[in-house]
Amino acid sequence: MSRRVLLLPGDGIGPEVVREARRVLDWANARYVLDLSFVEANLGGVAIDRDGAAYPDATRELARVADGILLGAVGGPKWDGLPAADRPERGLLAIRSDLDLFCNLRPAMLFPDLAAASSLRAELVSGLDVLIVRELTGGIYFGEPRGISVRPDGVREGVNTDRYSEEEIRRIGRLAFEAARKRGGRLCSVDKANVLEVTMLWREVMDSLSAEFSDVSLSHMYVDNAAMQLVREPRQFDVIVTGNLFGDILSDIAAMLTGSIGMLPSASLNADSCGLYEPVHGSAPDIAGEDRANPLATILSAAMLLRYSLSAANAADDIERAVSSVLEKGLRTGDIASGENDQQILGTEAMGDAVMAALQ
Ligand code: IPM
Ligand code: MG
Repeated sequence: MSRRVLLLPGDGIGPEVVREARRVLDWANARYVLDLSFVEANLGGVAIDRDGAAYPDATRELARVADGILLGAVGGPKWDGLPAADRPERGLLAIRSDLDLFCNLRPAMLFPDLAAASSLRAELVSGLDVLIVRELTGGIYFGEPRGISVRPDGVREGVNTDRYSEEEIRRIGRLAFEAARKRGGRLCSVDKANVLEVTMLWREVMDSLSAEFSDVSLSHMYVDNAAMQLVREPRQFDVIVTGNLFGDILSDIAAMLTGSIGMLPSASLNADSCGLYEPVHGSAPDIAGEDRANPLATILSAAMLLRYSLSAANAADDIERAVSSVLEKGLRTGDIASGENDQQILGTEAMGDAVMAALQ
């Protein structure tokens, strides 16, 4: 039976980068006879404009039956004035929650040819390969109560709640231990257990899991220290597991170490491995429509989609190799150029062409 891939281009540079990733998926579909069918739907600001909701019913129906989903990005200044509950970002949070995509994998790997584009010195980042496992459907992003209200004394007050149950911590912890087992065998759990009760429980559950995974060495780190260590000596990390908000912040830091946030793919999985795949970068409205966006993070996200949700590891390997070879040739989008004169700066579509040429 044909497998369904749902494309959600979204806002800003989303449509441009998804277009290039789609070419790569079409290539994989033909080359490995994967029998994929593609359908497109709206999410985020574009969905607000066309369907009146950031996660419209039509999109939900397609998402629930999809075998894998590729998302561009959501959000932009056009919708900044909307109340919190109606913003494009809520569409992204809603689809994550609706499909129970609690496990967000954000690998930060340095392509050797991009060492000069990192914000850190090459000797600190060469060989960098960190996997951030971020809990994605709980914590302060979803905890109740939340909102802005007016107190009896007339002063307004904003509230969010950081909340994790033992089960939620255990299921993300287990996947992180399993990921560490398949890699370097080291797991660092990041929390703020010196202050926040919710993360005291987080630490306790991680410790209790470690008995099941005697081949993985577990360490703990406070989030402030983890942020510092990531820019001080990032190669000390193998796998990091953390909650929703800390994972959001640390994954942007890790992204920059690899040269550009324009290079980083991500996978958000549920217990059935149906997944949503998206670049870690946002919608970059300042360069939208200018053919300047880096499509490589989305192309690498398509590779993750093939690997994790469509059992097409060969195709994923080919695509990752094609991206490496394009970088090796000195081809760059503006965000990953480092000014060396053997480099050639390409636009979004030409970078897609280069990846396609490397695949043929
Ligand atoms: C991310 C983004 C999202 C998040 C936003 C757009 C809601 O920053 O995927 O990291 O905070 O999770
Ligand atoms: Mg983020």
